[in-house]
Amino acid sequence: MKITIIGTGYVGLVTGACFAEVGHQVDCIDINSKKIQLLKIGVLPFYEPGLDTIVERNHLDSRLYFKDNYTQLDPSCSLFFIAVPTPSAPDGKCDLTHVYQALESILANSRNSLIIVIKSTTPPGTIETLEKMSSKYTAQGRSVVFVSNPEFLKEGSAVADCMKPDRIIIGSNSKSALKELRSLYAPFTHNHDRIIEMDPTSAEMTKYASNAMLATRISFMNELSKTCEKIGANINAVRVGMGSDSRIGYHFLYAGIGWGGSCFPKDIRALIELAKDQDSPCKILEAVYEVNQKQKTVLCEKIISYFNHQMEGKVVAIWGLSFKPDTDDIREAPSLEIIEGLLNAGAKIRAYDPICMPQVKEKFPQIEFCQDPYMTAHGADCVALLTEWKQFRSVDFKKLKSNMKGKAFFDGRNQFNHQILEPFDLDYIGIGQGRVKSCVEYSV
Ligand SMILES: NC(=O)c1ccc[n+]([C@@H]2O[C@H](COP(=O)([O-])OP(=O)(O)OC[C@H]3O[C@@H](n4cnc5c(N)ncnc54)[C@H](O)[C@@H]3O)[C@@H](O)[C@H]2O)c1
Repeated sequence: MKITIIGTGYVGLVTGACFAEVGHQVDCIDINSKKIQLLKIGVLPFYEPGLDTIVERNHLDSRLYFKDNYTQLDPSCSLFFIAVPTPSAPDGKCDLTHVYQALESILANSRNSLIIVIKSTTPPGTIETLEKMSSKYTAQGRSVVFVSNPEFLKEGSAVADCMKPDRIIIGSNSKSALKELRSLYAPFTHNHDRIIEMDPTSAEMTKYASNAMLATRISFMNELSKTCEKIGANINAVRVGMGSDSRIGYHFLYAGIGWGGSCFPKDIRALIELAKDQDSPCKILEAVYEVNQKQKTVLCEKIISYFNHQMEGKVVAIWGLSFKPDTDDIREAPSLEIIEGLLNAGAKIRAYDPICMPQVKEKFPQIEFCQDPYMTAHGADCVALLTEWKQFRSVDFKKLKSNMKGKAFFDGRNQFNHQILEPFDLDYIGIGQGRVKSCVEYSV
């Protein structure tokens, strides 16, 4: 099939490359010409494991093309995917400007009857609005039908998620569009049917509800972690105990420094605002958001209070900057807020991240960036682990301690515990890990 993807970001480029990988003919359009020029010579605009290989292969095999202008639309293409940003507006609602612009550009530059699939995360009701927007074009005798096909890929494992999705949600009022999408996705649903059909508004709501549920689980654990610290319990032990209940499961129960990234913050806010507009405020989500805002400051407060509010000249070594491992995405990363808080308190920052130091350097040029975690700790009063990259799983604490001036290790991702670090004469400060009095040896 011929497909045009609008937007070559994390979602658009991965989707386009995966469609090409299974044999479809894909054009990717982006208004960012610089991105497109780089893609044409094989340079990816962001880091995503495994993506470079399939982009290169399909580009060389002439199944994947890059264009920076809507006038270059393939006139014979009738299937479009919109994967442009849907950021927060200042009032917290979803800003649909990019989606509207993309739609107008498609309609103005093509003549065919079209199926337009919305991959961007859009508030319930958006498909209806888009249908109205396109009516002046359909009045001219061609049909334009819409499908909501929200994306569930995770940065860091986006290619695998896209090639083998848990489910494919397709919401449309058009039987023929649903049939077309079923056939398009057939190569991805070989061993069992993963396609769930519904109306477009429910499809849009499914995406928001899924993100809201995941964020709720994390905020719930973050809130419990505070009580654990007070009563001398270990949130990690509690997590494992809870997760073993098959009704609960282990995913998204990790206490830490709060959720960030390009999706949860804006999507939770958009759903809160949408519910308010409908006169049915979502109190749980309002609390989830508020708990997270506070959680992003918790580690900074722990560091400042460890040093009795005397941060002037203290050197903090930061391990990990991206909002989660295996991505270079720093959008709404908790690390940014923590760094800002520490700098404002007078600390000096040395930092290491395997991938995203250049992006952070643009925001904080005063930080000293180092080439490996142990160099970062050189002369540091403390270390703060902010992103659980695999590199930080097996630490040589003896070497670390000998590099440091001080002896505090702040573990924002609960990768370790008191028992592991104390033999090295390091003070361990995690999240929700109270001073547990127990003969049990914790593995995490
Ligand atoms: N990143 C994720 O993990 C993820 C996961 C699921 C859903 N989503 C949703 O997918 C959408 C895209 O997210 P992303 O992270 O890929 O965004 P992104 O910012 O990485 O990329 C979006 C791209 O769209 C381009 N663009 C903007 N307006 C355009 C236009 N009018 N025509 C052509 N190109 C245009 C931009 O130049 C940019 O390259 C958002 O709605 C997001 O919420 C993202």
